[in-house]
Amino acid sequence: MTAPDFPLAADTLATLRRAMLPMDGSIADHAEPILAAVAAATQAVPLADLAYVDLTAGSCLLPMAFAAAGARRVVVNDTASRTQVAAQALFGGAPADAETMVRRAAAATAPRRQHVASFRFIADHLTRDVAEIFDRLYFALAPAAEAMTARYVALRWVLGFADDEDGFRILMTHDPAQLRADDEEDWRGFLDRARRPSEIIAAVSRDIAAGQGALRTRDVAILHGDMRDVAGAIDYSGPTLVAVNPPTNGVDEYVIDDQVVHSLIANRLVPLTKCGESAAAFWRSRVEIALDALPRGTFFLVWGGDGALSSEDCRATWTRFGDPVHLATVVPSPGRHALWGIFRRR
Ligand SMILES: C[S@@+](CC[C@H](N)C(=O)[O-])C[C@H]1O[C@@H](n2cnc3c(N)ncnc32)[C@H](O)[C@@H]1O
Repeated sequence: MTAPDFPLAADTLATLRRAMLPMDGSIADHAEPILAAVAAATQAVPLADLAYVDLTAGSCLLPMAFAAAGARRVVVNDTASRTQVAAQALFGGAPADAETMVRRAAAATAPRRQHVASFRFIADHLTRDVAEIFDRLYFALAPAAEAMTARYVALRWVLGFADDEDGFRILMTHDPAQLRADDEEDWRGFLDRARRPSEIIAAVSRDIAAGQGALRTRDVAILHGDMRDVAGAIDYSGPTLVAVNPPTNGVDEYVIDDQVVHSLIANRLVPLTKCGESAAAFWRSRVEIALDALPRGTFFLVWGGDGALSSEDCRATWTRFGDPVHLATVVPSPGRHALWGIFRRR
């Protein structure tokens, strides 16, 4: 068991981690202590009676964990289209069939939904063959549920070309020999992945299918809005836990990280944008609006302190709306302290 009381086997959580959307800024690494704390905080409520609402779902790991554990209801929200694509496939897509996805990825002449070849606007980051495979999957003409899954497989295919540290790097050339000879950047992983599409897509499909297969909750809502606009429109009746985890250091770094995948999803180069609010003001405004919308007695899961605001400032904001049931400090990276907690709305 991952946590004394949270009804989810460790190998199921491992399966969900392989199916989740890989992204920076996720709290997925801390899932075990978070789920243990949730179980302790809500022990009077059987999980089958508990609803989980994630206003900033990101990787989708926690919504999947609650769905795999059989929560009463799961609500998945995020402003980012990459999470929308992931959530639709994981919670509503047809099981990812590796053979079908590999066939689709190889089908150069198969009919597709109308689109501009992604290579036309993404050539600074992806080579033609890599972008072409994305298009074959993402714009595949297929039954709706299969198309949803194929879009997520396409996303996972290209996300694997991002460097762990630097994300999507600029290709100064598309010539593999020159990339191999590049003494400033190591492109071996990129080139190796580009050479093995069938193997990679089959493996990604299997990981996604295993995650899809582990989910039990059927009452799932997928939203795609700013938490400021959706928080007040959600039904929180019955025992409910709400995750409120907006970017602690401003949304701009997400816009940069997401530019390549959001451009591929939008099928045009999406220009970078700069948020009009400071990182602190953005975090405060989103957290206050979300917590204010919660009825008395609702549990909320929060994280802060590793960005523009100190842990003390974040805690002061949370405490204005509820009482802590569990608090924990973590060190996500050297020199950065974060505080997360579960509170009960007053
Ligand atoms: C710190 S991450 C949280 C990720 C998630 N808890 C996880 O573990 O994967 C913040 C998430 O909030 C999303 N986000 C940013 N601004 C938002 C807003 N105004 N409303 C809803 N989601 C937002 C980002 O796209 C990102 O996925």
